[in-house]
Amino acid sequence: MKTILVTIIAFMVTFQKPAFALDTDLPGYTYEQAQLGRAVYKQSCELCHGANLNDGSSPPITGDLFYSIWGGRSAGELLQYIETEMPTGSPGTLDSKQYRQVLAYMFQVGGFPARDGELSQNSDEYDTARLPIPSGGRISADIVVIPAPPDPRANPLDKITRVSSQTLAQAPAGDWLMWRRTYDAKGFSPLKNIRAKNVTDLKVAWAWTMPDGRNISTPLVHDGVMFMYGAGSLVYAFDAVTGDILWRYEREKKWNSPRSFGPRAISIYNDKIILTTDDGNIVALNVKTGKVEWDKSVLSATTLWFSAGTLVADEKILIGTATASAPGMNFVAAFDVHTGDELWRFHTIPQDGQQGSDSWNGVAAGQRQGAGVLATAGGLIFSGSRDRVFSAYDQSDGTELWQVRLNGVPSGGPISFMVEGKQYIAVTTGDSEGFGEYNLGEGDQNPKKSSATIWVFELRDSS
Ligand code: HEC
Repeated sequence: MKTILVTIIAFMVTFQKPAFALDTDLPGYTYEQAQLGRAVYKQSCELCHGANLNDGSSPPITGDLFYSIWGGRSAGELLQYIETEMPTGSPGTLDSKQYRQVLAYMFQVGGFPARDGELSQNSDEYDTARLPIPSGGRISADIVVIPAPPDPRANPLDKITRVSSQTLAQAPAGDWLMWRRTYDAKGFSPLKNIRAKNVTDLKVAWAWTMPDGRNISTPLVHDGVMFMYGAGSLVYAFDAVTGDILWRYEREKKWNSPRSFGPRAISIYNDKIILTTDDGNIVALNVKTGKVEWDKSVLSATTLWFSAGTLVADEKILIGTATASAPGMNFVAAFDVHTGDELWRFHTIPQDGQQGSDSWNGVAAGQRQGAGVLATAGGLIFSGSRDRVFSAYDQSDGTELWQVRLNGVPSGGPISFMVEGKQYIAVTTGDSEGFGEYNLGEGDQNPKKSSATIWVFELRDSS
């Protein structure tokens, strides 16, 4: 459709010049000048525009395509463009002589023969000289047609599919749908086209400069689209093959550190990308457009922030909080993945007045610290805290179902395993950093420094 339109417009506005106009009044240049320009070109332009001026990663600067854009405009305009814009990243780094030499070389490669006299410094000469319009006639000079790439790629977002719970549980080999790829965080890819015998052939496919700042996120990839978090609560959607940007979300509201740490993980679910933000919210973006679908405030205390990010499971978004200055305030919370409504929230360490807060011997709620967390397919979450209590919570509503008091702080991450058909839960206790600050009571309530132990639990009929 686009091509047809362009052709029609071309018919309407052309019939201007029959041949690749030697009847142009291009300013003259000398062979020597073009030779010098060639050296400058090699040094400063070839990297992007290619050895033949039309075979680099940047637009061609010779040939029909180029002159269909520039034809009819003045040579002065082109010279000024080069002088002020090129090379990109460091424009203006050549002197005015060198810019004219490069232009002479462009004219030479373009097929305009050298004439008497150098391309001079005289600006009038450039202003009156019109660049030629390619043979066959093209669109009039002030219409700029951006040519379609030779083999246009479809936008992968057009065909992106929804990510279901099933997809998350059994990710296609080519996708990377969560932080360490699978729920068990193996960080393992089943792909094997890149192997020991060819890995030395790896080359850069594309790269994109991200905003400055701490960024510990991993990208997500689904159906050929890459979603990447950027410091400052940004999200980019890229064509994973070309690096073309498909959309970009930037949060306007920003709070200063320590919250601007950036999460490890963002999530994809259904038709949404979900992220935690520096200002303490959870936001869902439309996967195709990057537009906000819902935006919920989660953190009210400025001493808390997100560093793990989000995990989507069982149609819930799970988050945990991090803190530097107010231990004991942390919580785990779940949100409805469709609406963002908060479903439950529990403090891994009881706050004053909550069940279990009496086992801290008066240690201020803000001073209490906890330990690792284990979730199981049995619908349970296990976690320990510094009052030496190891607990199991109901994953569906966050209520505490079971607890045991150990000889030390359950400081390692709990695990679960099975032998001969029987499931076990195990956790280690031991000193953790700063533990000595806590006086949790007299006698056996006061954990000894040497209390490191491995504890293993099994189901046993209590009757
Ligand atoms: C780092 C890469 C890079 C280098 C080096 C570079 N260019 Fe470019 N050039 C580009 C890009 C990218 C564009 C397209 C710019 C845009 O679309 O805004 C461009 C555009 C141009 C254009 C306009 C093309 C058009 O279709 O309108 C000209 C002319 C040009 N460059 C000349 C030069 C010359 C002469 C040099 C050396 C002095 C040079 N460039 C060095 C990347 C580069």
